[in-house]
Amino acid sequence: MNVTARTMPALLAASCPVRTALAATNLSSRSFTISLQEQPVVRPVSSFYNHAAVDIAASKPSVRLTPSAMLYSGKSADGSHLLRSAQYLHKELPVRIAHRINGFRGLPFIVGCNPNILQVHEMYIRAFQLLSQFPPVKDFVDEQKFTNLITELLDDHRDVVTMLAVGFRECRKHIQDEEMVRMFLDRTLTSRLGIRIIAEHHLLLHENKPGNVGIITVNMNLKKVIESWADFASNVCQHRYGKVPEVKLNGHLNASFPYIQQPLDYILPELLKNSMRSSIEKNDMNNVHPITVTIASNEVDFIMRFSDRGGGIPHQNLDKVMEYHFTTAAKEDQADSGNGLSTFLEVCNPDPHGGPMYGYGFGLPTSRAYAGYLGGSLEIQSMQGIGTDVYLRLRHIDAKHESFRI
Ligand code: ADP
Ligand code: COI
Repeated sequence: MNVTARTMPALLAASCPVRTALAATNLSSRSFTISLQEQPVVRPVSSFYNHAAVDIAASKPSVRLTPSAMLYSGKSADGSHLLRSAQYLHKELPVRIAHRINGFRGLPFIVGCNPNILQVHEMYIRAFQLLSQFPPVKDFVDEQKFTNLITELLDDHRDVVTMLAVGFRECRKHIQDEEMVRMFLDRTLTSRLGIRIIAEHHLLLHENKPGNVGIITVNMNLKKVIESWADFASNVCQHRYGKVPEVKLNGHLNASFPYIQQPLDYILPELLKNSMRSSIEKNDMNNVHPITVTIASNEVDFIMRFSDRGGGIPHQNLDKVMEYHFTTAAKEDQADSGNGLSTFLEVCNPDPHGGPMYGYGFGLPTSRAYAGYLGGSLEIQSMQGIGTDVYLRLRHIDAKHESFRI
């Protein structure tokens, strides 16, 4: 038999029913209070091993939205936009989650068996189960219950990236095909970004925050966003090294436009953290060169260049820095080493997308995957001996040209 992760939940259930039942019970305890009112069913995740509903949902294409459709889809005084939004998610989320389950099923057995990776697989099966069992959203009472379910699922899944980072690191020795890992993680992480954006958009549509339409900031001032993350990174850097490089901004400092800030809240601290770390570690502590961030915005896209004088990335590492898990952080500085010093954002990052993951060598590859998903790119130019320039290019969401879809 060709054993892959597809066969795994059932095999594990057979070999270790207690572990599987426990996992199902633990994972189920919180959100089932919602669905219990409707359907008092608690099924072990292994019962989804041969579940046709997952296969049927996975065979459907996802319906990806343009951000401008999200922005302009209109807000009605009677709140019917909330009903429409919930009805879209009710149909769309099981499809997207079934695609993710298929991804886990295709992993090699020894990888999919890793406890952290298996737990994430089970969380997606459970999310699929809860969402696909949820009755049609017909009125505002249903909508509120559905919104509660989404809120709980977003919270339950907040540590998914960390769990995957730990899981794949643990099973590194069993992995022969690095490309398989890269493709799996690129896909899983970007699809998850899209899922979380559409889910959070729905929640935020309820809030009526001035200047926002759901998750979209109508007039995002890029300089302010960069400055706030520079402040944040500077505080952590000060705490870690007792010294902070100055961050200078130039270029289109007045650029303001509609955008979804959430992915920037992940990427910007990552890039600033890297530049600050190299600037401090490669320089004389009394003479730390500033970091310069240049902003350019045009009709099609906006670009940020992060320039540091941290010595650049050595030739032999240049091809590796975009690999998941590549890090030059010293062993004792790596994530979950227990010293709390990790690459320095680990402890303090509020992490909009999941638990702390810094020091796993996930910053650059994840940022590049996110940028690509958003119709942009992340490129590195290293001037060995001097410093590094990182170019982050992202498409406007109201561009005249075809924008990306979420
Ligand atoms: P981490 O920060 O956890 O090490 P990243 O993926 O963000 O993970 O970065 C991977 C590696 O790339 C870093 O450990 C470092 O060696 C190198 N790197 C990234 N940015 C820079 C930079 N601006 N200057 C020098 N090296 C860098
Ligand atoms: C995730 O964050 O991993 C998700 O897929 C969120 C979703 C279950 C609402």
